[in-house]
Amino acid sequence: MKKNLKQNLKNAYPKNINKIIELISSVADKRKVKAFMVGGVVRDLLLNNPSVDLDITLEGISGVEFAEIIADSLGASFKTYPQFNTSTIKTKDAVKIDIATCRKELYLKPGILPEVKSSDIKEDLKRRDFTINAIAISLNSKTFADVVDYYGGYPDLENHLIRIMHDNSFNDDPTRILRAIRFAARLNFNFDTDTKVLLNKAIKEKKLNSVSKNRIRQELRLILSEEDCFAQIKKLDEYINLDFIHPNLKISSSMDRSFSQARDYLLRFIKESNIKDLSKDARWIVNFMILIDDLKQDEMESILEDFNFTNSIKNKVIKYKKFSAQVSKLLGQADKLKASHVYGILNPLCLEASFAIISRTDKICVKDKIWSFIVKDRLIKIKVTGDDLKDMGITPGPKFDFILTRLLYAKIDKDIINKEDELKLIKKLI
Ligand code: CTP
Repeated sequence: MKKNLKQNLKNAYPKNINKIIELISSVADKRKVKAFMVGGVVRDLLLNNPSVDLDITLEGISGVEFAEIIADSLGASFKTYPQFNTSTIKTKDAVKIDIATCRKELYLKPGILPEVKSSDIKEDLKRRDFTINAIAISLNSKTFADVVDYYGGYPDLENHLIRIMHDNSFNDDPTRILRAIRFAARLNFNFDTDTKVLLNKAIKEKKLNSVSKNRIRQELRLILSEEDCFAQIKKLDEYINLDFIHPNLKISSSMDRSFSQARDYLLRFIKESNIKDLSKDARWIVNFMILIDDLKQDEMESILEDFNFTNSIKNKVIKYKKFSAQVSKLLGQADKLKASHVYGILNPLCLEASFAIISRTDKICVKDKIWSFIVKDRLIKIKVTGDDLKDMGITPGPKFDFILTRLLYAKIDKDIINKEDELKLIKKLI
């Protein structure tokens, strides 16, 4: 077990992040306050899987005041959350630095967010969920990169164990039931014996019922955002049973394959295409579509209502559920479908729906058509504008839209290439 991680920090992070760490260290020294890296960032660093963001906790100064100095030095923007005494800095090269003040939490009622008081690092680590998330790394120069591990998190990491910090942990914050399962599935770790007993007890006593549906929805999003979504769903089913989402939700035989296909397609899209129009929520939305695919329309809609999903998510998922089977069938029937026809079928749905359908189908010809739509055809634009049409004497209305659509479809099918071709086609159409 290593006690100092100076070399690990240097090797794990790129230069820009090491520079930020040095800056935090020197400002903390100057202000005579203690600064630490904490939480999941430390866990992931020790697992040789360093994250791109930083989580900093300070002893003896308000996180907001400190963040202002750091943000100023970096020429970065920052947002403060005074009610939690925390700030988030976003640097120009998109590094996110969360800065907080050591705090103690008082749980007044299970499932409700706790009352917060300032404290030192020992207390701050004690309030956390699991020992593996309660390790800190000192950033002050005299103790730079020393591991601060009061609760045995480091040996638990080495032994692949998830252990709660105290017996009341799942009662204080029942969302930790879902977090425990998520980390166990993600890291392929086991629960320590007592933790497993208390976890099962909290599940049996239905502690999750005291948590608001909004918080459960946030946890569900995190579960569905995980890279190995099937491992998550399987573990969730093993411990809680998927009926906490909906009584008829079951693991289907094709789910495993669909989740892994979705992961592969999304990764391929990010890697291969230089288009950055996929929302950061895409992964969980696609996985959610796959998860609910075997439910009936009204069952799926009751999940969306129950967990208070936003209207934009509701619209995407409801439309997917309504049309996905029909879309797969249409795309699978005719082998020689024109690219514009595929566009006409897929474009009314959201992009996530295309990813879900491509991941659910077994037919290679359907996959090929959807992939061409995703990476190529949906991005094609015509050169002619509405103003050009007006200049040609066409007034806005159904004819106007018809012409623009015909031009776009002709361009997708490569029947026309440039603006000259477009103008010629317009003349034929009017
Ligand atoms: N934490 C906690 N109890 C919770 C949520 C968070 O104790 N219900 C603490 C943990 O120490 C955690 C840290 O806050 O490490 C940061 O929370 P979060 O960003 O949600 O978790 P990470 O551990 O960073 O997980 P991930 O890798 O999924 O981002």
